[in-house]
Amino acid sequence: APALNRPATAVAHPNIALIKYWGKRDEQLMIPYADSLSMTLDVFPTTTTVRIDSGAAADEVVLDGSPTDGERRQRVVTFLDLVRKLAGRTERACVDTRNSVPTGAGLASSASGFAALALAGAAAYGLDLDTTALSRLARRGSVSASRSVFGGFAMCHAGPGAGAAADLGSYAEPVPVAPFDVALVIAIVDAGPKAVSSREGMRRTVRTSPLYPSWVASGRADLAEMRAALLQADLDAVGEIAERNALGMHATMLAARPAVRYLAPVTVAVLDSVLRLRADGVSAYATMDAGPNVKVLCRRADADRVADTLRDAAPGCAVVVAGPGPAARPDPGSR
Ligand code: PMV
Repeated sequence: APALNRPATAVAHPNIALIKYWGKRDEQLMIPYADSLSMTLDVFPTTTTVRIDSGAAADEVVLDGSPTDGERRQRVVTFLDLVRKLAGRTERACVDTRNSVPTGAGLASSASGFAALALAGAAAYGLDLDTTALSRLARRGSVSASRSVFGGFAMCHAGPGAGAAADLGSYAEPVPVAPFDVALVIAIVDAGPKAVSSREGMRRTVRTSPLYPSWVASGRADLAEMRAALLQADLDAVGEIAERNALGMHATMLAARPAVRYLAPVTVAVLDSVLRLRADGVSAYATMDAGPNVKVLCRRADADRVADTLRDAAPGCAVVVAGPGPAARPDPGSR
């Protein structure tokens, strides 16, 4: 086999799901129960370099300048094992990752992280993958990462069946949209790591929440309506569907035993401020993931006003305005 001596660097951006998946039917292969649809952001990129080290006995994983161990390192090693299997290689590697957002805080660092790792890892190990195969690979790191392979709006298919067929059928692809000026205003209520990991939260919800099956069923209808609304550039429809889908997801979590609750008092204060914005005629709609942070969908022209309102509702919290962002890309010049 030829020597692999060229380090590969990739950049990927996080995405926020407007139609959420929550729960995996195969935790090993990372197959979701539900289709999901997201917007990739133009903020908080992750930059990852993979260097093959043919003399090393183990992979080294460096996160934001510090070597990591434990579960965080293991997820990367397991992912590299998959890349090595696909490439038919055995060499170990050094992975250097820089996040511009706190890791594990419900700000989608695993989406940008595994999309960047899939692209850089495939390149470093000499794998030539099309975007579908790359998205499928990224999904093995984190389901949401399958969507960050693409810019703009993307949907991840849950796919049919089980085992290898399910693996083949579950990947993301771009979603057609009419051009519209949309912003996502992010209120960072708490940048600390979450109390319950999304993996554990999903597991508990799927196993114990009596609301889970009906949320998955209503998500199917939400997805169809969302695709139509995006084709019409109908921001109010997009926002309404996204908000109800997210609140429904949090309802399923709250009904789990014991409850999985990511929403904090400040989250609810921000949700109240979004209702007041709507009462004042501003199109603003909220979505929340596995954490207390709130992301508010609005028109670009209203983003500053929405940001000011969120700052008032969440004193001391950082508020960031994002727009639709780019696909994951190789970054040959960065190191
Ligand atoms: O795939 P993960 O582990 O990044 O979990 C994502 C979970 C949600 O953000 C709540 C939903 C989603 O579809 O992104």
